[in-house]
Amino acid sequence: MIRVFVPGDAAALSVGADAVAAAIRAEAAARGDAVELVRTGSRGLFWLEPLVEVERGGRRFGFGPVRAADVAGLFAAGFPAADRHPLALGAVGDLPWLARQQRLTFVRCGVVDPASLADYEVHGGLAGLRRALAMAPADIVREVTESGLRGRGGAGFPTGIKWKTVLEADGPRKYIVCNADEGDSGTYADRMLLEGDPFLVIEGMVIAGLAVGADKGFVYIRSEYPHAFRRTEAAIATARAAGLLGPDVLGSGRAFELEVRLGAGAYICGEETSLLESLEGRRGQIRFKPPLPAVRGLFGRPTVINNLLTLATVPTILANGAAAYRDYGSGRSRGTMPIQLAGNVRHGGLVERAFGLTLGEIVEEFGGGTASGRPVRAVQVGGPLGAYWPTTLFDTPFDYEAFAARGGMVGHGGVVVFDDTVDLALQARFAFQFCAIESCGKCTPCRVGAVRGAETMDKVIRGQDPVAHLGLVRDLCEVMRDGSLCALGGLTPMPVVSAMDHFPEDFDRPRNSDRPAQDCAAD
Ligand SMILES: Cc1cc2nc3c(=O)[nH]c(=O)nc-3n(C[C@H](O)[C@H](O)[C@H](O)COP(=O)(O)O)c2cc1C
Ligand code: SF4
Repeated sequence: MIRVFVPGDAAALSVGADAVAAAIRAEAAARGDAVELVRTGSRGLFWLEPLVEVERGGRRFGFGPVRAADVAGLFAAGFPAADRHPLALGAVGDLPWLARQQRLTFVRCGVVDPASLADYEVHGGLAGLRRALAMAPADIVREVTESGLRGRGGAGFPTGIKWKTVLEADGPRKYIVCNADEGDSGTYADRMLLEGDPFLVIEGMVIAGLAVGADKGFVYIRSEYPHAFRRTEAAIATARAAGLLGPDVLGSGRAFELEVRLGAGAYICGEETSLLESLEGRRGQIRFKPPLPAVRGLFGRPTVINNLLTLATVPTILANGAAAYRDYGSGRSRGTMPIQLAGNVRHGGLVERAFGLTLGEIVEEFGGGTASGRPVRAVQVGGPLGAYWPTTLFDTPFDYEAFAARGGMVGHGGVVVFDDTVDLALQARFAFQFCAIESCGKCTPCRVGAVRGAETMDKVIRGQDPVAHLGLVRDLCEVMRDGSLCALGGLTPMPVVSAMDHFPEDFDRPRNSDRPAQDCAAD
């Protein structure tokens, strides 16, 4: 029996993975070859998708990118042993792009059958939960604290401290909420795990429940992720049937239940308090803090709300111990970070490495420069509210403090690359426009400021008294930064000001732009 692995991840599906799987089945049937076809997640080497793998002698060998039309030729060349075929990549684990990574959280993604709990366990799954079940809640929290894990949703808040607050909060009921809204531009790590290793997320949430005394959790998934949604629902049903969820988790006598909710498509619903509003069935709008969600969160109860990657890191920490995780990293940024390369980049995909790799190494060595072949001019790290940086900052280590020291942020690990055709004045305008469209409208600096900012940038772009208008933009940025109620308005100045500071030459040349300022007003 030949075992063939074809990704069923949305990225692979978008470039024809289903057709490739069907072609492999048909070709094998026509030849009378016995083939077991496994639909995996993606390994995160997107330029090679669909990346087809075969198992030989206990190792995986890859072919890619494979189109349905290539399949007959692959079989004619001796598939699965078609080592001389032009699409043959050799042993997948030896591909330098993968071999140079330190995959802890993504170790199974693209390898296992995401529908199989047995496969998850064979590949090391549930070891962390089994250990946690034998520990006191406070000891689980201590282990997470000592690992140095910080939230991967953007703010980098220490996870152990958040969990301790919920553990110590009084309440007849507590909740765990997994934030899989993943609204940042160029990010997809949450989606990849839900589609490629969903039991890891479930395991992380059950451990969080044990740690703080919560018996109910919700996974909040953005509406643009229908495959991830279906995969998660199926995984929860499988986990429930196997006793991993329910009234008696793995026979421990402890209960934990899980439900999935689909967002309605708003960036602000990724912000934790808006997300909770949305989960409760209301429009996604910011809540005043305090009280923190850890004290009064979902339905007024103490709630752990963590990014999906944060929760998915916990099983590894529990399985291998806090010290093993803390050994990775630099400074106060401990462990590994799943970095997501996107935009105009030759090799887009997921790189999990210990914090500390420089931005230049990420963009040049992993990314291979731009897809257009033109020089890299700018990168935006940390989503739509992240800074635009020139290549002169490529020596910055990927770590929370090093980025903050230079006016940037790591965020959720998205790195979007631009070549030398990018116009940073247009990008600065786009930041205001994005904020205007996505603003929840609760506070004036953001609701009004974003619209006025885009209008003023339009004047700069048309060459209308740019010096005076740029001064106004800077003043407005200060007001938004200091006066906004949440980080959407508060961080919109980051892409604007970084673009003005690092690329001033783009702000003093008039262009023909008749775009009406009103087109950015949220309607
Ligand atoms: C406008 C805005 C959007 C956000 N979007 C997300 C998101 O899509 N996913 C996420 O995990 N956190 C997002 N956050 C951060 C959350 O508010 C919160 O800090 C996070 O879920 C906490 O989890 P962590 O400690 O594990 O990072 C967003 C914050 C803001 C201000
Ligand atoms: S900053 Fe914007 S998104 Fe945040 S509360 Fe104010 S209006 Fe709403």
